Amino acid sequence: MTAKIIDGKQIARDIREELRREVAGLKQKGIVPGLGVILVGEDPASKSYVTAKEKACEEIGLYSDDNRLPASTSRNDLMALVQKMNGDPKIHGILVQLPLPKHLNEVEVLRAIDPKKDVDGFHPVNVGKMVVGEKSFLPCTPRGIVQLLARSGVKLDGAHVVVVGRSNIVGKPVANMLLQKKENANATVTICHTRTRDIGRFTRQADVIIAAAGRPKTITADMVREGAVVIDVGVNRIEDKTKKAGFRLVGDVDFDAVKEKASLITPVPGGVGPMTITMLLYNTVEGAKMAAGLA
Ligand code: GUN
Repeated sequence: MTAKIIDGKQIARDIREELRREVAGLKQKGIVPGLGVILVGEDPASKSYVTAKEKACEEIGLYSDDNRLPASTSRNDLMALVQKMNGDPKIHGILVQLPLPKHLNEVEVLRAIDPKKDVDGFHPVNVGKMVVGEKSFLPCTPRGIVQLLARSGVKLDGAHVVVVGRSNIVGKPVANMLLQKKENANATVTICHTRTRDIGRFTRQADVIIAAAGRPKTITADMVREGAVVIDVGVNRIEDKTKKAGFRLVGDVDFDAVKEKASLITPVPGGVGPMTITMLLYNTVEGAKMAAGLA
């Protein structure tokens, strides 16, 4: 079987168009959703994400307050900026780009964000609400994965999903979201990680594999059941002298071999990536509606 490609760029465009129309309607009510972004330091991947976020905000008509701070920024200065954004009525969502430089404590900074503005869904209050199935901001990459699956017609009810990776940003939240007793969920979920013995033993039983390990070729063809759906969350830079940038992006899945066995597969780039920013925009619009008592 040769897999159909899930076009994340097109699905992201469709959702952004829906959001653009919604934002235009909110503006007529005097509401302009606003996103505050904080980037500390010079990590090249983080810089390119943040630039893409700023551009996406502009495209759909969101206000964005962008703050690029030097790697030497002190804890107090960063905390003061978060507090300022917590109190700024023009800002409905706050995003502190991770990872932070080593001298800053990520847990402390994420806890300082007002949970009502936590559009990343990383604050423990929102993580807890997600786990018990209460309405909350849901992390953007997992939320994007659920949308890709839903809009590609993948039935999750009763399906076996194997998540490879247990990060707080992707693995843990996507597993939690998919096991909820809800629409576009209701799956049986297995989580594999670096200490799992023989990951293939689990992935070969999967109807859906979500690869979020952060390592190229974590999922090879022998690990995939014929007809499985494969979602590749990896964004690994590997050296490529033929490219202007000197590198190219590959996922966690051995794409060329796995696409011959899967029924549906996401490419890298152009799969999950465009959905993350799209769901950030979605969460920011939700935040603005909540603040105005409309959601
Ligand atoms: N770094 C990598 N992914 C993310 C994300 O979704 N949000 C934030 N804040 N930082 C990230």
